[in-house]
Parts: sequence; structure tokens; C-alpha cells
Amino acid sequence: MAIERVGVVGAGLMGHGIAQVAAQSGYDVVVREIDQERLDKGMGRIEKGLARAVEKGRMQQTEADEVRSRISPTLDYGDLADCDLVIEAIDEDLGAKLQMWREVDNIVKDEAIFATNTSSLGVMDQAAATKRPDRFLGLHYFNPAQVMKLVEVARAVTTSDETFDTGVSFAESEKKLGVKTKDKAGFIVNRLLVPYMLDAIRAYEEGVGSIEEIDAAMKAGAGHPMGPLTLADFVGLDTMGSICDVMFDEFRERRFAQPPTLRKMLAAGWYGQKSGKGFYDYSGDEPVMNPQL
Ligand code: 3HC
Repeated sequence: MAIERVGVVGAGLMGHGIAQVAAQSGYDVVVREIDQERLDKGMGRIEKGLARAVEKGRMQQTEADEVRSRISPTLDYGDLADCDLVIEAIDEDLGAKLQMWREVDNIVKDEAIFATNTSSLGVMDQAAATKRPDRFLGLHYFNPAQVMKLVEVARAVTTSDETFDTGVSFAESEKKLGVKTKDKAGFIVNRLLVPYMLDAIRAYEEGVGSIEEIDAAMKAGAGHPMGPLTLADFVGLDTMGSICDVMFDEFRERRFAQPPTLRKMLAAGWYGQKSGKGFYDYSGDEPVMNPQL
């Protein structure tokens, strides 16, 4: 089916970017959040991103205004009713996702496709909570969604060929690379990236290098744009913790287990950049290594 109107549930770190990319690609977008504060924050991020694009000469002001006008923020699931595609970008909490899908499934038109942006949870588990498991798939974006080229298009066992193809075409219509993958925890990228970041934490615990040394080494030695501990802070340590738990549960391998340092940081409420503290402290002009670690 032709996609014209896209619903995005969640306007957080990923949701606001997913909404912005869809609007920039010409889609009408409805973004739903649970409260006004979160909704305003997400819309503020989008507006800031558009202003930055204009400032850097990547977009004309008129185009930025058009993109913004295509996005309708809402607190009401009812506004998603006419969407052709609904992309979920809420917390990595299966219970919360299932509850959301059950509610949305009763509101959104029957022919619409549902997609989860989950990093690690089962696509099938979510599809089964709806009356449209054939029109359900994973569309996994990467942070920042406005910049990163990849969308993993994940197929549950019930996903129809038509839905899967629509997912790939949708990613391509956003000028993304849509890579097909199966409904396995972590898909392709997190299956490889998460154990890498966890190994960096273990290397730090073992004194192989300091936080800065580990990051600097991987940037200069492997050509990565960010070191692994900066990246962990950037992804969000809470998100990483949730992904670890799901992957450890699925594969039962030590490489997916949360290292003690990560556990302590999560208990302390240090979630990385988003909370102002993680492996680095972000309270000053420049991040500095967290002196409390
Ligand atoms: N929104 C829009 N544009 C952004 C942006 C954002 N949030 N962040 C950066 N950009 C743009 C900048 O405007 C700039 O564009 P320009 O070259 O046209 O001026 C360009 O990206 C580069 O940005 P900066 O100069 O500010 O900074 P960097 O060169 O350091 O790049 C980065 C920033 C793109 C984030 C880069 O460091 C990077 O690629 N890091 C790795 C990110 C990564 O690996 N992401 C995947 C994480 S895993 C994941 O998301 C999966 C999940 O399930 C866990």
C-alpha cells in the first residue's frame, strides 16, 4: 500500500529523529507523546535540528518551514487513526510496547502497517499483540536518525512479503539503506556493536586503559567516529542495559552480560549524555572523564 501519512509513537532520542526524517522525505507525520513536556522537548529538538540545517546551508528556510508544518504533535492516540504506517519508538520495555500496540491497534485503520524501532526485543512478540501480525515488522533506525544511513528492516515469521517490501521501499524513500534482517535479538548491528561496547567497559575495568585512552585508541586505531565509551554514553546506558538483558536472556552468553561497572552506573542513575553523566561528565563546556568512576 502507498504510505502517505506516518505516525511516530514517542518523541524521545529516536522518535524525534524518525519523525524529522519522515517529514523531510515528504510524509505527513503525527508524533504522539504521553505528556506535554516530553512532546515539547521532542518538537524542540526537531526545530533545533531544522534550524541547524538552515544555518549550515543544507536546507532553505522555506523548506525547513514546510518540513515543520508536515509534523503534527499530539497527546492523543486517536490522531493516528488515518496513518498508513505507525512506527513505535518508546522505551525498550516489552510490557509498555504491548500495551501501546493493543491500544493503537484498536484505533488505527486496519490496512495500516505497524513497525517497531526496537533495538533488541522480539518483533514477533509485539506483532502477536495486534490483529495484524502480517502487517507488522521491525524498522530499526540508528542514532542520530537524521544522519545515520542504515535502517534494519526486520521480518517476523508472520510478516507478509508485501509488508516486508513496503518496509524496504519506505526506508529507501527516506534515502536510507534498508538492510533486510531476521527477527533475532539485536538484529545485525547490535549483535556486533553491543558486545564491542561491553568489551570496552571490561577493558576499562581491567585497567587496560583509561576511559579517554580506550576511546582515543579506537578512534585513531580503527577509524571509528566515536570511541566505544563515548558511544555507550551517546546510545544511553539505560538503553544499553536493556539491550544486554534481552540479548543475555536470548543467547545466554557472557559477552552479552552487563559488566559490574554498567550495573553500578545504572543504579546511580547515570544514563550517559541524556542524564548529564555516564563515562563522561557533560555538565561543563566539554565532556570530561567522570571523576566518580
Ligand atoms: N541531528 C541532525 N544532524 C546531526 C545530528 C543530529 N542529532 N548530530 C550530528 N549531526 C550532523 C551535523 O550537523 C553535521 O552535519 P554537517 O557535516 O553537514 O555539518 C554532521 O552530522 C557531523 O556532526 P558533528 O560535526 O557535530 O559531529 P561529528 O562529526 O562528531 O559527527 C556523529 C557526529 C554523526 C554522531 C558521529 O560522531 C558518528 O557517526 N558517531 C557514531 C554514531 C553511531 O554509531 N550511531 C549508532 C549507535 S547504535 C544505535 O543507534 C542502535 C540502537 O539500537 C542502540
